[in-house]
Amino acid sequence: MRTITLINGDGIGPEISNSVMEIIKASGLEIDWDIQTAGADVIKAEGVPLPDRVLDSIKKNKVALKAPVTTPIGKGFRSVNVQLRKDLDLYANLRPCKNLPNVKTRFDNVDLVVVRENTEDLYAGVEEQIDENTAHSIKIITKKATERICKFAFDYAVKNNRKEVCVVTKANIMKLSDGLFLDTFREVSNLYPQIKKREILVDNLCMQLVQDPTQFDVLVLPNLYGDIVSDLCAGLIGGLGVAQGANIGFDYAVFEPVHGSAPDIKGQNKANPTALLLSACEMLRYIDENIYADKIEKALFKTLFGNIKTADLGGNATTAEFTNAIIENLKN
Ligand code: NAI
Repeated sequence: MRTITLINGDGIGPEISNSVMEIIKASGLEIDWDIQTAGADVIKAEGVPLPDRVLDSIKKNKVALKAPVTTPIGKGFRSVNVQLRKDLDLYANLRPCKNLPNVKTRFDNVDLVVVRENTEDLYAGVEEQIDENTAHSIKIITKKATERICKFAFDYAVKNNRKEVCVVTKANIMKLSDGLFLDTFREVSNLYPQIKKREILVDNLCMQLVQDPTQFDVLVLPNLYGDIVSDLCAGLIGGLGVAQGANIGFDYAVFEPVHGSAPDIKGQNKANPTALLLSACEMLRYIDENIYADKIEKALFKTLFGNIKTADLGGNATTAEFTNAIIENLKN
């Protein structure tokens, strides 16, 4: 039986984690979940939000499923999410955005993938207080990190039968940093003659995405633009409750939804487990359990077709009712 680390998170994290574990079990796939807690509650007991035991578990099991963890605003500890990505060198953030059955959105036929660089840019954590009224954040772009994310995007395109990779920058203004990202993309793109290339500025991308998102296939972006654009893309397919994601490195992979811990609906049996469930399906494909991933996705789609939806999608099913409906649909 395969052992997988599960960070069950806080806020709605434990509710949606339980839902996903129940659904995977009902699909017939036995997984030995190594459940690891992290986040604000852990600070009280262990002094840090991401204890070494969590990292050790992922290093041992290689793969993790992660529910959201609250990051308090202001000074203090580093975000668990940022630390995980840095410590495990999970350099690629992958967010496939595809319309789901019977989830009404502005556009049909959205099927794009956001590939976000995950380790540097303004998220490198290099900040300094210059004086009482001035703070600096340094934007770091390196050729090494850009090369590997661009290769990841092109390799993903080849493997998944995608036609085009579009690089997103603001190279007209940040000529050195975004300029390096763009130049490196151009170099890497020469290795993939079978894939079409496109270049776009991030402001124009945002306008194009809300006018006609169907024109895009694979997008590759530096960290900050990628963070913002992937939430925009989540909105295109029905919101945060359905948007899946993954953080992938050479040695480890952590699969997690785009959304946060949703403290406003915590403990109310209202949370939509779809985003975590779709992230789990990608995780199952990553460990070559495609049959179970397809089976679970089919049951999820059937449930949505049957108009059983949680409140964020305009339905009135509770988390438990939605979970049970998927489990029922796994049987036939
Ligand atoms: P959020 O994503 O938690 O919530 C935004 C809105 O979407 C809320 O109204 C919430 O109820 C709704 N929502 C989110 N997920 C949902 C779901 N599965 N089902 C139904 N409704 C859902 O964003 P917010 O409020 O900005 O962040 C809350 C906390 O989560 C913060 O501490 C933030 O730092 C953290 N966070 C953690 C992430 C992670 O662990 N990967 C990612 C994003 C935020």
